Amino acid sequence: MATPPVTAVPSVEAATRTAPDRAVIVRHLRRSFGMRDVLRGIDLEIRRGEFVALLGRSGSGKSTILRALAGLDRGASGELFVAASRTVVYQEPRLLPWAKVLENVILGLRDPDAANRGRQALAEVGLEGHESDWPKTLSGGEAQRVALARALVRHPDLLLLDEPFGALDALTRIRMHALVVKLCRRHHPAVLLVTHDVDEAIVLADRVLVLADGRVSLDTPVRLEGPRVRSSPEFGRLRSRLFHELGVDEATEATGVDEPVPTLSIPTRPLTTATEQETLL
Ligand SMILES: Nc1ncnc2c1ncn2[C@@H]1O[C@H](COP(=O)(O)OP(=O)(O)O)[C@@H](O)[C@H]1O
Ligand SMILES: [Mg+2]
Repeated sequence: MATPPVTAVPSVEAATRTAPDRAVIVRHLRRSFGMRDVLRGIDLEIRRGEFVALLGRSGSGKSTILRALAGLDRGASGELFVAASRTVVYQEPRLLPWAKVLENVILGLRDPDAANRGRQALAEVGLEGHESDWPKTLSGGEAQRVALARALVRHPDLLLLDEPFGALDALTRIRMHALVVKLCRRHHPAVLLVTHDVDEAIVLADRVLVLADGRVSLDTPVRLEGPRVRSSPEFGRLRSRLFHELGVDEATEATGVDEPVPTLSIPTRPLTTATEQETLL
């Protein structure tokens, strides 16, 4: 079966060109708020099935790009060609409190088989048996897994993730990374993950972009041999490069101290715990 063509987001200029092997093509995307030019000409392509992480400081315009790709921003200009089937997962799970978990997952689906598909999606994110739970009874990690199930049940060609693990504790976040890797291997959507977490970007992505001053200032593939272990020298080298590009002092970032520290120390130690094993991809 031929893959459906990439279609223009209705809010921006339409064009006739189609590119079946691309889930996203963005040309000269610009967005201003008042006098402030937040996006000054973004060019971006994402291949079908490719996992791209978009890094940038807070306020750099990451969510603005994602909203434009989701078709939620009528004020953006430029050419956007985006897979018609796309879903967004946000930092907050955005579950309807008055609907049970399964209803949240299949909300708006008209398919008569929706309930079965919803149950299957919940099983895939490890929430079998939680179909009749109320959202308020879930932990933060569980609620976010429901949000992932709600996205997956729609079989998107493009999954837009806006800091989806940002509100979770460190251990839950690592488990979520492993889950996302598993789900992406199974379903192969193109993914744009917006994050300010450098390690998260390296662990998950095929390619990392850095957004600075309204432009993509770095676009680099993640080519790490073997498992993506945070303590490996290659991982550390890419992390340093990305921190540098972000204009972040890595030593300060590592210690959480604002004053300059004498040496740049990123802890390197052998894999010892089960939790760290989960970062092996
Ligand atoms: N609707 C809006 N109205 C005015 N300013 C906005 C609006 N949306 C975003 N901005 C501004 O644009 C900048 C980029 O925002 P955003 O894309 O949310 O940043 P990021 O996701 O990288 O933290 C910020 O300075 C923000 O205040
Ligand atoms: Mg944001």
